[in-house]
Amino acid sequence: MTGICTGRVAVVTGAGRGLGRAHALAFAAEGARLVVNDLGVGPDGAGESSGPAQEVVEEIRAHGGRAVAHAGDIATADGAASLVATALDAYGRLDTLVNNAGFLRDRMLVNLGEDDWDAVIRVHLKGHFLPLKHAAAHWRAEAKAGRTPTARVINTSSGAGLLGSVGQGNYAAAKAGIVGLTLVAAAELGRYGIQVNAVAPAARTRMTESAFAETMAAPDEPGAFDAMAPGNVSPLVVWLGSAACAGVTGRVFEAEAGRITVMEGWRPGPTADKGARWTPAEAGEAAATLLAGARPPGPVYGAS
Ligand SMILES: NC(=O)c1ccc[n+]([C@@H]2O[C@H](COP(=O)([O-])OP(=O)(O)OC[C@H]3O[C@@H](n4cnc5c(N)ncnc54)[C@H](O)[C@@H]3O)[C@@H](O)[C@H]2O)c1
Repeated sequence: MTGICTGRVAVVTGAGRGLGRAHALAFAAEGARLVVNDLGVGPDGAGESSGPAQEVVEEIRAHGGRAVAHAGDIATADGAASLVATALDAYGRLDTLVNNAGFLRDRMLVNLGEDDWDAVIRVHLKGHFLPLKHAAAHWRAEAKAGRTPTARVINTSSGAGLLGSVGQGNYAAAKAGIVGLTLVAAAELGRYGIQVNAVAPAARTRMTESAFAETMAAPDEPGAFDAMAPGNVSPLVVWLGSAACAGVTGRVFEAEAGRITVMEGWRPGPTADKGARWTPAEAGEAAATLLAGARPPGPVYGAS
């Protein structure tokens, strides 16, 4: 298979199902060799199985592509290190890392247990940081040896992290953190030939198919565009994982159905400067005036 990723090696975390599986198949269809990572956990992170990663590997091979499985936990130092080592052992190189693995433990804040907080922050935030750190260390060594890579990282945020989402305090905090991590990584790693971007996807997977059944449903009419199929998100991810996106870094995209949106982040709005310390009453008056001239925030998902 040849395409915009011919010659490249891509690692996709959480690629045994859902969006990660779709990304892995799309990279393979564009000529990339794959490391398919998946710990094979349940929807809330419980259990483990090497089955999902191996099934996607078989699927890629059946289509004539090249893939190896990695069934480790990407939120551990050993799992992240062995993920990168698997790419280097199997193919002798690594070009693209897609951080995608994760799960949900949704609760309203007052019911959100410490375990649910820790587990979700860990899998998403640490599960992005550790593979990124290990891949970047490899690429930095390559750059220092005079072999500057055309390296690409695609992180997975969420509308929940960008706008907030009722019942998902742990998840929204992790996904907002991933945006911060993306901005820092893009700024720090550009000098080594590494571009880092993030996507906020929406698609029909086990994470969404029952909670948003109506929005996520496949069309009844044969041949109609299946807007919420996970594969609709993958073309942007593949482009961001290819050499073709030169110069694009530190960006966040929403991708859903046939729509791609560049998300424009926090930037200063109306401002006032007294040149001295405000009293609380003065600060309140100034804030009220500024708010009257500011754009309202976007709606929080699920807010009534
Ligand atoms: N589906 C959506 O609409 C949507 C929206 C916004 C963001 N996302 C994000 O997209 C990503 C993929 O989600 P999905 O909808 O495909 O869900 P999914 O449950 O279908 O797939 C996630 C995969 O990650 C794996 N995984 C979980 N923990 C892991 C770990 N520690 N190590 C390795 N693998 C692990 C799971 O086994 C699973 O196969 C997630 O980060 C999710 O938060 C999805």
